[in-house]
Parts: sequence; structure tokens; C-alpha cells
Amino acid sequence: MSDLLNLDAAFVEITEYWSPRVVAVANGQYLKIARVKGELVWHAHADEDELFMVHRGTFGLKFRDGRDIRLRPGDVFVVPRGVEHFPYAEEETEVIFFEPASTKHTGDVISEKTRSIEEQVRHFSRPS
Ligand code: NI
Repeated sequence: MSDLLNLDAAFVEITEYWSPRVVAVANGQYLKIARVKGELVWHAHADEDELFMVHRGTFGLKFRDGRDIRLRPGDVFVVPRGVEHFPYAEEETEVIFFEPASTKHTGDVISEKTRSIEEQVRHFSRPS
């Protein structure tokens, strides 16, 4: 059995922006959290849908067709596989996302904000 996870406590430990952290795993899917502010990069995930929720703040997603979505606490949004998106946050925001273990958070785009899966799972101890 895994330990009880409290998201408020988990977010307190995150100080770096745009650096996802794995906090739970189930059925080959990772629950990740990130503190974000500013902009990430345009990217897509060829084979994976990406589910976003907001814990605190406002999370923006722009799309090539001009759509600009703002997620607030309680909102859920799924970016379908293959759809290019540009994540951003005007204020410091706490984001929760759910995706397969293999998903790279900046797709195949490498930027200075790109973090490897190994970096994302570093703080996570699997239930034994
Ligand atoms: Ni993405």
C-alpha cells in the first residue's frame, strides 16, 4: 500500500518552476504535480493524451487554432494526443496532471525547461 498523499504538503516541497514531480503511480500512469509561472514551450505528444487539473492559481493553454483556455481550481482539461499546445501561467500556479509514465512533458521539444522522467520520479518512493 502506498502512503497517504496530501497534495498541499507535496506542493510545499516544490520550489522550481516547470519541473514536474511524480507523486503517485497507478496502472502505468503517473500523477504528477508542478509549480509553474511564465511560459513552457510549444509541443505535442504524438501518442498520449494529457489530462490537466489546477490545484491553485490559473493555468493557461494556447492552441494553434487560436483557442486560449484558462483552467482554474476545479477545472479539468484533456489535451488530445498529437495536438500542439503552449502551457503558460501569468501568476504562480499549482498544476496536477495525469499521463502515461512514458510521456515527456515537452514532447520531443528540448528546452532549458525540459526535465527527464528520471528527474521527475527522483522524489517518488514506490510502495513496496
Ligand atoms: Ni504537454
